[in-house]
Order: sequence, then structure tokens, then C-alpha cells
Amino acid sequence: MNLILLGAPGAGKGTQAELLVKKLSIPAISTGNMLREAIANGTELGKKAKQFMDEGALVPDELILGIIGDRVAQSDCAKGFILDGVPRTLAQAEALEAKGIRIDHVVSIEVDDSVIEGRMTGRRVCGKCGASYHVVANPPKVDGVCDSCGSELVIRKDDKPETVRKRLEVYHATTEVLKDFYGKLGRLCVVNGDQSIEGANEDILKAIGAKV
Ligand code: AP5
Ligand code: MG
Repeated sequence: MNLILLGAPGAGKGTQAELLVKKLSIPAISTGNMLREAIANGTELGKKAKQFMDEGALVPDELILGIIGDRVAQSDCAKGFILDGVPRTLAQAEALEAKGIRIDHVVSIEVDDSVIEGRMTGRRVCGKCGASYHVVANPPKVDGVCDSCGSELVIRKDDKPETVRKRLEVYHATTEVLKDFYGKLGRLCVVNGDQSIEGANEDILKAIGAKV
């Protein structure tokens, strides 16, 4: 089962991807997490991506396509994968099709922009594995510590309100059109993301025909 999670910044793509990894036993591939790791490690990719990410702009398509093609070809993706935050432009979606990367379902997680700011101000992420928490809606078991890997939780640099607003603008201007693209291919399902994390997860599993 090859899935794409589509949605605005803060819609819950990363949160739902973590739950789906456990339920479906396939890996999640988050381009955002991969780019943050590249920045932390000071790689060439990280150096090229940093300014775009800090400003809330999209990283150029060629950098994204370079990392995604290699990643889905790895052996752990043989039974399927969950793409979190990619594709994000029409060019990226068309390139996946052209590379013959089969997509079974595209889940658009829908949350009104007015809800997003509160989610972002309360978000804490693991500096090591990228797991996403919220101080109220999804707190870690131990304050400031990742449940999954025990590393320190941090505030993402691009979660400043003005950068979040810019990221929302970019989503509506450039990424939302992918709903039409995948809708025409008959692969789109829409899920209400403005409900409990568990409720949204159940709706996603139902929408993709998986066991709840
Ligand atoms: P990326 O890391 O993908 O960020 P994003 O798309 O902006 O989305 P977020 O990670 O902010 O939100 P999310 O939907 O994962 O929400 P989460 O589950 O954390 O990308 C960052 C940057 O990298 C981009 O701006 C761009 O520069 C670059 N980039 C990445 N991919 C790219 C690509 N393909 N092309 C070009 N550039 C690319 O949830 C948010 C918060 O809400 C958390 O605190 C969570 O606990 C909480 N929450 C989740 N669900 C619920 C719920 N149901 N109720 C209450 N709270 C909830
Ligand atoms: Mg995310």
C-alpha cells in the first residue's frame, strides 16, 4: 500500500504518519524530517535547503525529487510506504508518476487555517527522530522528552507565527491543487483533521480500506 498524506502545515500529517506506521507496518517518509536532518548534519542538501525552510518557502523540486526517488527504492519500502509532505507541487506529483512510483491512495487531511496557529504554538518535535507532540493535545509521557527515542523535544524554527502564515499561503497557492490532480486520477480521499487524533486516524484507515 503506497500512500500520500496531503494537508496544510499543522494538519496532522506527521502525527498520523507515526500512527499509520504502527498499524500498517510500512515506513513513513517525511521530506521535512529528512531536510531537517540534513541541516543538522551540515550536508550539501542541508545547506541548499536551509534558507527556503527558514523562510517557509518550498525547497526546489529537483532537490526533493533527488531524495525521494532514492528513498522509495530502498528495501524497507517493498511492501509500501507513506509519503508525508511530498509531493507538494504539480511538478513533484508528475515526476512521481513519470518515475512509475505507484500511488494507491492520497489522503487529504483537512483543517481550517484558523485552527493551525494554536497547533503550531503548542507543537514540540523530537530533535533526533522528528516525532511530533503537542503540549495539550498530544503530550509526551515525560515533559520535554521523546516517547519513541528518549531525545530532547524542541520547537521547530519555522513554527513562528509569521512563518506559519507564509507556509499556509504556500500550501494554498501551490500544493492544494494536488487535490484536483489526484481527484481526477480517482485516488483522493478527504478526511476531517479537526477532530481527535484517534478519530482522524480511524477515518483515514476506513478511507483507505484498512482494518481499523
Ligand atoms: P514539513 O516538515 O513537511 O512541514 P509542513 O507540511 O509545513 O507540515 P508540518 O510538519 O508543520 O505539519 P504536520 O501536518 O506534519 O502536522 P503535525 O502532525 O506535526 O515541511 C517543512 C518545510 O520543508 C517546508 O516548509 C519546505 O520548506 C520543506 N519541504 C518539505 N517537503 C517539501 C517538498 N516536498 N517540497 C518542497 N519543500 C519541502 O501536527 C501539528 C501539531 O498539531 C502537533 O503539535 C500535533 O501534536 C498537533 N495535532 C496533530 N493532530 C491533531 C489533532 N487531531 N488535534 C489536535 N492537535 C493535533
Ligand atoms: Mg510534519
